[in-house]
Amino acid sequence: MTATVTVDLPGRAYDVMIGGGVLADAGARIAALGGRTHIAILTDETVAGLHLDALQAALSAAGLTSDALALPPGESTKNWTQLSRSVEWLLDQKVERGDIVVALGGGVIGDLGGFAAAILRRGVRFVQIPTTLLAQVDSSVGGKTGINAPHGKNLIGAFHQPSLVLADTDLLASLSRRDFLAGYGEVVKYGLLGDAAFFDWLDDNAAAMVAGDAAARARAVTRSVQMKAEIVQRDETEQGDRALLNLGHTFCHALEAATGYSDRLLHGEGVAIGCALAFELSARLGLCPQEVPSRVRAHLEKIGMKKDIRDIPGDLPPPDALLALMGQDKKVQDGVLRFILAHDIGAAFVTSDVPSEAVLSVLRDSA
Ligand code: GLY
Repeated sequence: MTATVTVDLPGRAYDVMIGGGVLADAGARIAALGGRTHIAILTDETVAGLHLDALQAALSAAGLTSDALALPPGESTKNWTQLSRSVEWLLDQKVERGDIVVALGGGVIGDLGGFAAAILRRGVRFVQIPTTLLAQVDSSVGGKTGINAPHGKNLIGAFHQPSLVLADTDLLASLSRRDFLAGYGEVVKYGLLGDAAFFDWLDDNAAAMVAGDAAARARAVTRSVQMKAEIVQRDETEQGDRALLNLGHTFCHALEAATGYSDRLLHGEGVAIGCALAFELSARLGLCPQEVPSRVRAHLEKIGMKKDIRDIPGDLPPPDALLALMGQDKKVQDGVLRFILAHDIGAAFVTSDVPSEAVLSVLRDSA
């Protein structure tokens, strides 16, 4: 079964189609957007080997021709060199203002491809075809595009909404267990930040999802995208509520920086640990019931996810150095660190009112 979630932004509304097999409809859906019948696809070498033939067959069945540029896989591709390579290739492909660029891949390709589309000819339309759980529930929806700078992740970019998102949940079968679980960190985040009933459902169904239950996967992606769409509709450019989507991310970004953005800690793993720490901090500050952090940690543990700093392999900097790394987070405003804390599961809020000593004690006890 296919679900459609509309991201209802004025003048830029678009559909996110979710379900097993939606990739097979890509040709008809993209043809319906108009533009030339030649489609330029940005992807990476790994995803190209797995899913490019299926996409090109679907396009061809709808009378669309296509060419693809496959970039190297991995976070380090989100740089100026690969961006200019992509934009120049799109110009070689003669992509014009009315045409469609397709980004087929995970968060790296979606972010870079979306940014290339945002700056090409001052903005061309693009379609996201996310192939990872993380990209399906988070990065492909909401229009954040960009690349990394030596100063930090995602510091160069633009808000540029896609014209369509096709989240084929069958593609998730090609993910390793670790990559699936990392994406799950962003799924559970939605329950924790704003939907206690969804968290309860995940607590009952996450193990089946991890084991491959296709219906449970599609349902979890759909609920996550609904929640993201609601938040993005309220606050597209993160002046307020959109910051809730960063639950767990202040801790996560410090841990990612401390591990050199390496395989030691995948982004979604850091989000899961960060969520557990955010609930611990909330409880220590008397903001949420004392038993709630244990529920969060028990859930993560049940499905084999990292939940503490000590679960990250190798040495890490001491708590005060981690706190300093948090100070470089994008959510710092006028030198004040903003945290997403919670009154309960499903009840997150944004605050700047967090004593450093409380953060240090949470970091110390988790290490
Ligand atoms: N990934 C957080 C956001 O889209 O705002």
